Amino acid sequence: MPKIVKADAAAIRKAASIIRDGGVVAFPTETVYGLGCDTFNERAALEVYRMKRRPSSNPLIAHVLDIPMAKRVVIGWDVRCQRLAEAFWPGPLTLVLPRRAEVAPSSIGGRSTVAVRSPLHPVARQLLEAVGGPVSAPSANRSGRISPTRSEHVSEEFMDEPDLLVLDGGAAHVGLESTVLDLSRARPMVLRPGSVTKEMLIPIIGEIADPLFAGQAQSPGTSPRHYAARTRTELIDTANIDRRLQSCPDPIVVLSFDAERVPPPHVAIVMPSEAKEYGAKLYESLRQADSLDRTLILIERPTERGGVWEAIQDRLRRATS
Ligand code: TXA
Ligand code: MG
Repeated sequence: MPKIVKADAAAIRKAASIIRDGGVVAFPTETVYGLGCDTFNERAALEVYRMKRRPSSNPLIAHVLDIPMAKRVVIGWDVRCQRLAEAFWPGPLTLVLPRRAEVAPSSIGGRSTVAVRSPLHPVARQLLEAVGGPVSAPSANRSGRISPTRSEHVSEEFMDEPDLLVLDGGAAHVGLESTVLDLSRARPMVLRPGSVTKEMLIPIIGEIADPLFAGQAQSPGTSPRHYAARTRTELIDTANIDRRLQSCPDPIVVLSFDAERVPPPHVAIVMPSEAKEYGAKLYESLRQADSLDRTLILIERPTERGGVWEAIQDRLRRATS
């Protein structure tokens, strides 16, 4: 089992030295926990892919302290990048740009672009400061599984990695992965919706191409099945919950906006009606539902769209496809 340690100054120094020596450490960000390594170290990146069992074509995000550190990773930092970083960094916005030659090719699936973001979480920032350079990190889950929002989730994922150090920084308060915005093409395109929404980006950079057109090739990590529980998981409209529960022979789990809709012996996990709170709770609730080990998880389909709901709808689609 991985070693979870409270992220005090000594633990952060230790974690930074592991990364500088070419190792891998799990650390908190405001979105989800990441599995970090030195952005410029080819072998360290390969180790992250091995641990995650991630397809080698799916590129990692380089985490940076600030704009000067971002410029050590990307080329073509223009006025759009500057404005976006000034508006949303540190925070959950990832920019895809042409890469510098120093970036380890295996960390980006051999691409000519690299994703960068500056995290807001104080532990992530202290770690970047102590490393003194960029840290590439995917979400700290096994490929295809639910992203971890707590240190315990990371250790559940990597039970067979006793040497992995996990910095504990509490629950990730955003709970959904960062918005990925591709600036390497003629028109900016959202490859993965997140809590920095289209409505927030448009006033700064103008028109954005629709995320629906972002296919496999642009962002391999956005494959249809992702963020999945082990238990079969389905989305259900509010109006159909009653009938469905009556026809279930075994007790099941329902992520519902209203516990009243889920009579015993079925189990309700109540979801918040406000988007930010829903996003913060979603992965934890899915893990909790999964751990109850029932035959089925139902998720009441939120009817709302726009803003952060777009990212939530995206994750729900993938968790149930
Ligand atoms: O919030 C987050 O972004 C978290 C925390 C740890 O920072 N990280 C995260 O990483 O979600 P990961 O590896 O699970 O997802 C990264 C996403 C994937 O969909 C990947 O395909 C996409 O970003 N991506 C990374 N580099 C890219 C590139 N050069 N071009 C296109 N897509 C890229
Ligand atoms: Mg991920």
